[in-house]
Amino acid sequence: MAVLIDGKAISAQIQEELKEKVSVLRNKGVEITLAVIQVGSDPASCVYVRNKKRACENIGIRSLTYELPVETTEKQLLKLIEELNGRTDVNGILVQLPLPEQIDEAMVIQKIDPQKDVDGFHLRNVGALCSGQNGFVPCTPAGIMQLLKRSGIEVAGKECVVVGRSNIVGKPMALLLLQENGTVTVAHSKTEDLKAVTRRADILIVAVGKPKMITREYVKEGAAVIDVGIHRNEQNKLCGDVDFADVEPVCKAITPVPGGVGPMTIAMLMNNCVESVL
Ligand code: GUN
Repeated sequence: MAVLIDGKAISAQIQEELKEKVSVLRNKGVEITLAVIQVGSDPASCVYVRNKKRACENIGIRSLTYELPVETTEKQLLKLIEELNGRTDVNGILVQLPLPEQIDEAMVIQKIDPQKDVDGFHLRNVGALCSGQNGFVPCTPAGIMQLLKRSGIEVAGKECVVVGRSNIVGKPMALLLLQENGTVTVAHSKTEDLKAVTRRADILIVAVGKPKMITREYVKEGAAVIDVGIHRNEQNKLCGDVDFADVEPVCKAITPVPGGVGPMTIAMLMNNCVESVL
């Protein structure tokens, strides 16, 4: 039986630690404010934004929400960001993705003051991560590093395989594992003989966006498996990129979906908000 890596419990623990830090800061007269911008009403984005606001309330961070109509222009959005960049009472700015097609996402991200970019998507923060300097780290991969650390899973010297190469998860994940001295491979949809590559992994991180794609043939016995995917199956139940029932018996540790990586993303967003005032 594999150890179940309880992201919900670890996220709650981190949020308790942050609550304490926020309270110490408040006693010193420091308030933290996160501005959350959502354009349109994509149902998944609505859920994420609501959860982010709730987490802010829970740990004592003030949140300002901007719900803009789907037809908002790029110019209007950029103007709002500029205004928030200039406000000394706003410490973090988060633009929920995806944005409607008339808006250039890359352009919008570059407009955010890198010191308020709590998502860690601005090129300045991406560059800092690439070169091992201080900056905001994207929340999902940062959360996965915490899951590994707090579950006692050693990265140094281990074979780490990341499946998926997105800017938000795969690429920063690989950099963080490398920083902790993992031996890192990034596999993707064009990788030849993917099973042979993933079977090398002591730590297998899956962010492919395909429900239950990773079955036990992809997994080395005794590996730790981290599932970033989240999907609804035919029965409207949540599942990940990993076929949990099939893989769980062969691995050493595994994250469930829901309750694995998901809650960690929010905890690390809150962590970045606290860091924005330090
Ligand atoms: N959409 C899906 N994941 C994320 C995220 O981590 N940050 C933002 N801003 N949008 C997202």
